[in-house]
Amino acid sequence: MFLTVRDLTMRFGGITALADVSFDVDEGRITGLIGPNGAGKTTCFNCITRFYQPTSGAIAFKGENLLDCPPFRITSRRIARTFQNLELFGTMTVLEHVLVGAHARFGRELDERTATSNALEILEYLGLAGEAHKPVRSLSFGARKMVELGRALAAKPELLLLDEPAAGLGHEEVERLGETIGRIRRDFATTILMVEHHMALVMGISDRIVVLDSGRKLAEGEPSAIRGNRAVIDAYLGTS
Ligand SMILES: Nc1ncnc2c1ncn2[C@@H]1O[C@H](COP(=O)(O)OP(=O)(O)OP(=O)(O)O)[C@@H](O)[C@H]1O
Ligand SMILES: [Mg+2]
Repeated sequence: MFLTVRDLTMRFGGITALADVSFDVDEGRITGLIGPNGAGKTTCFNCITRFYQPTSGAIAFKGENLLDCPPFRITSRRIARTFQNLELFGTMTVLEHVLVGAHARFGRELDERTATSNALEILEYLGLAGEAHKPVRSLSFGARKMVELGRALAAKPELLLLDEPAAGLGHEEVERLGETIGRIRRDFATTILMVEHHMALVMGISDRIVVLDSGRKLAEGEPSAIRGNRAVIDAYLGTS
């Protein structure tokens, strides 16, 4: 099994952000993680990427216990992510951001010339080649989100976690994003776990959906089944 999350529980003082959540992510597929605000989606990402130490439960990646892995080794375990709130450095250039992603994974294995040519290829792939030497703060919000994606891709992840990639994007940008994610899965042979509130996008490109509500797993299944699931409609879809 590729990624397994078992009985994952995360408490912050009196708040239980995740309670006994279990699900699997299949290799090569796109899994959507959805649910209302505060459901525990980002917390789940933070546990997988080891930003948080779960209160209890197990997370295994390709059969190995991920909870043994310190956060700074996550990238070398071939896991990369983007953030719900952009985590970029305004004065650094687009290219520098993507190089950071490559260095996080390959360290000194990669010489600067190869790293730069790989990074430029990724920027080309994401339609950002013309922005390579611009500081990130001069870019539109949509382009900054692509920079985050580029930084994650530079680590050549086997598992890519996307936390609300469509948030704040316009209609056309969301359509392009959906195509880009589909292409990435194919061209980078990456498995994707995506948190998203944009239902057309997540239902359109996911093979499977896991629904969280108030820290618990409410449902999981194919998009068509999730759309028609009464509990999911009541807790989430009916209100969106
Ligand atoms: N570091 C933290 N300290 C205290 N509480 C936290 C922390 N991180 C998350 N929480 C709480 O855990 C719960 C789940 O939050 P989380 O950010 O995972 O939700 P989410 O599903 O990502 O929501 P959204 O769709 O709004 O991003 C919330 O009640 C939140 O306040
Ligand atoms: Mg969140």
